[in-house]
Amino acid sequence: MSFRARHLLAIEHLKPDEITTLLDLADRYATDNRNGIAHKDVLAGMTQINMFFENSTRTQASFELAGQRLGADVMNMAMQTSSVKKGETLIDTALTLNAMHPDLLVVRHPSSGAVDLLAQKVNCAVLNAGDGAHEHPTQALLDALTIRRAKGRLHRLSVAICGDIAHSRVARSNIMLLGKMENRVRLIGPPTLMPSQIDQFGVEVFGDMKEGLKDVDVVMMLRLQKERMDGGFIPSEREYFHRFGLDAEKLSHAKPDAIVMHPGPMNRGVEIDGTIADDINRSVIQTQVEMGVAVRMAAMDLLARNLRLSRQTAKETYA
Ligand code: NCD
Repeated sequence: MSFRARHLLAIEHLKPDEITTLLDLADRYATDNRNGIAHKDVLAGMTQINMFFENSTRTQASFELAGQRLGADVMNMAMQTSSVKKGETLIDTALTLNAMHPDLLVVRHPSSGAVDLLAQKVNCAVLNAGDGAHEHPTQALLDALTIRRAKGRLHRLSVAICGDIAHSRVARSNIMLLGKMENRVRLIGPPTLMPSQIDQFGVEVFGDMKEGLKDVDVVMMLRLQKERMDGGFIPSEREYFHRFGLDAEKLSHAKPDAIVMHPGPMNRGVEIDGTIADDINRSVIQTQVEMGVAVRMAAMDLLARNLRLSRQTAKETYA
């Protein structure tokens, strides 16, 4: 098996064959989920703790369901009401949790790098469920599985990522994953929403949807991350929709069989027209949610195998 990682912190650290191993396993879980085939033995006896320091609906639910489907004991820590509010540092919170001996820790945090830091302090496997504007590896993996299933492959595709790239961990993880798998990535958005070191990303940049969407296979829309903006990045939402919102006219420049994606939550009428989002012939947004559970099952399964192996080795060494 070619998946040796101890944690899943970023796409940046994964090799193409590790990505393929994970997606192959997730693909099997996706099929079994559809057919109601349970795998309660995979994480039986293991404890999964979800720590979300930032609001989340689908990602937290998805990780929770994934753990339950694999038979783990799953606990959600309500971080908004926790002792963090009383001034406890991230490290102290981590050490406290570590003393409870979890096997898998799923963490979302508003600061980039916070999840990496936490991973250095605990004895279990850590999964990054989104850290600031840095990475959101399971989102990129579920997007990859959705694309692979819809297009039959995950290489030599032309993928447009549109909108608020600057504040998006989803965009960063996707740019990295799609690049590693040899796809062409185009970024489309206003200059104010492009990251400053964009030339290091190995992508093409467009300021116009019509030009950028020309003949692409995949159109990935992003939410305007208003909570990460400290000022006016766009003139108005109306103007933004007019120039960058995905509607039928703009989509007509992509390939006729191009798929439309969005990580959610969506702002209808801001970055995407509701009718496009609901068009079952083009939109794979619900499939993304479905693949999310399967990808998280695969990620936790693989990390749990590595964890068991390392614990076994440690036991033998000290026996
Ligand atoms: C994304 C996130 O939290 O980064 N959402 C998600 O995980 N489904 C994107 C977003 O919030 O816009």
